[in-house]
Amino acid sequence: MSADTTPIATLPVTLTVNGRKVQRFVEPRTLLIHFLREELSLTGAHIGCETSHCGACTVEIDGLSVKSCTLFAVQADGAAVNTVEGLANPDGTLHALQEGFRQMHGLQCGFCTPGMLMRAKVLLSENPDPTEEEIRHGIAGNLCRCTGYQNIVKAIQHAAATLNGRVFQEAAE
Ligand code: FES
Ligand code: FES
Repeated sequence: MSADTTPIATLPVTLTVNGRKVQRFVEPRTLLIHFLREELSLTGAHIGCETSHCGACTVEIDGLSVKSCTLFAVQADGAAVNTVEGLANPDGTLHALQEGFRQMHGLQCGFCTPGMLMRAKVLLSENPDPTEEEIRHGIAGNLCRCTGYQNIVKAIQHAAATLNGRVFQEAAE
């Protein structure tokens, strides 16, 4: 029996990724996370599960946080996609969220961090001054096996304070 050499059909996809237009031909079954990591070498977003729970693959698509393991690249055709690689400020300094995670020790292994940061970015755009409960609820789609979440909450509070022009004051525990 000869091997099936039928070429796999591809479709054109055009995206704006971190402000730059990219165009590729992809198989319809290609997941957006694989497109970002393997086609564009944006390897910040990670894959932590096969059941859409962990959120390590979270990116921002047209202002929404989306688990990119649960979307085909072709479904994002025409969209603006932002990944952690585009999060730092244009002058190269860290975004307030990145700084918050660093200052408040909101990461350990760092595997969940790109997804956490992108989710937190959208969370703060939806709710610029969230309560602790709102933050915990707001990142419920993002799992972390290292931090116990406490310092991630503080990191997001730190970033919210910075973005609101305040100095972060840690609540007494
Ligand atoms: S890889 Fe776990 S939700 Fe996407
Ligand atoms: S820092 Fe390791 S999984 Fe969150």
